[in-house]
Amino acid sequence: MNKISSNNKQPIIGIFDSGLGGLTILNQLNKDFNNYKFIYFGDTAHLPYGTKSHQSIIKFCEQIVDFLISKGATIIIIACHSASAVAIDFLRKKYSIPIIDVIQPTIKLSLMIKSNKSICVLGTSTTISSNTYSENIKKLSTNIKVYEVACPLFVPIVEEGLENSLIANQIAEMYLNPLKSLSIDSLILGCTHYPMLYKTIKKIIHKNIIIIDTGVAISDELKQILPSSNDSQNDNEYYVSDLPYRFNELASKFLKYEINNVKQISLK
Ligand code: DGL
Repeated sequence: MNKISSNNKQPIIGIFDSGLGGLTILNQLNKDFNNYKFIYFGDTAHLPYGTKSHQSIIKFCEQIVDFLISKGATIIIIACHSASAVAIDFLRKKYSIPIIDVIQPTIKLSLMIKSNKSICVLGTSTTISSNTYSENIKKLSTNIKVYEVACPLFVPIVEEGLENSLIANQIAEMYLNPLKSLSIDSLILGCTHYPMLYKTIKKIIHKNIIIIDTGVAISDELKQILPSSNDSQNDNEYYVSDLPYRFNELASKFLKYEINNVKQISLK
């Protein structure tokens, strides 16, 4: 990807997810790029993408990118694994601005761990059935073993605020216990909701397994194309396609601070 020249106007970064999970990534980017303005879009009207057809997801992504560009975005970040898995090729073909997906940077970061011989990816049904993670890891390293596990109940658990509950623990055990007999070096939380389940997952898996931080992975990728800048921070903008119940509670949990400038818009 080309570096954005520092002579250009200050880039504006459009970032989107199927819902609010992408705020876990924005949280990291706010720390590392606090001199840039981010425009966040959460497609809450269409959540979850994890069970939608590829065709629908591509259509939603196209509408979102058009919207973010209309708001001035000059770089796009797909902060959603399901959307990255199925829409990245289409979007990169259609738009000439830089588009960063969440999957490639996460793979890159996980392959930087020298001792990494086997990776397990947890994700939505869309992400896991697309085989995007396993195929792309194999392209870069043929001798790494990849295990993929669809965890469709994790998103509703987080949406209901139950990530540290007994039920979360039982469901996580159901998904993760079969992994105990395998030798796994690193674990990719391949869905933007899953970092909220970090503590629950960490308690179940072997203590030596390294959990890859997708926020850090995207931030590293953005550092490749954005020059540092001393300009002061502009206020981020937040848009959603629906205002779901418990919106504020969820948003502040993902982002770790409260936002009061959320606008609801409908995409065409
Ligand atoms: N944000 C989605 C992802 O990262 C998870 C939620 C959904 O299914 O839309 O895969």
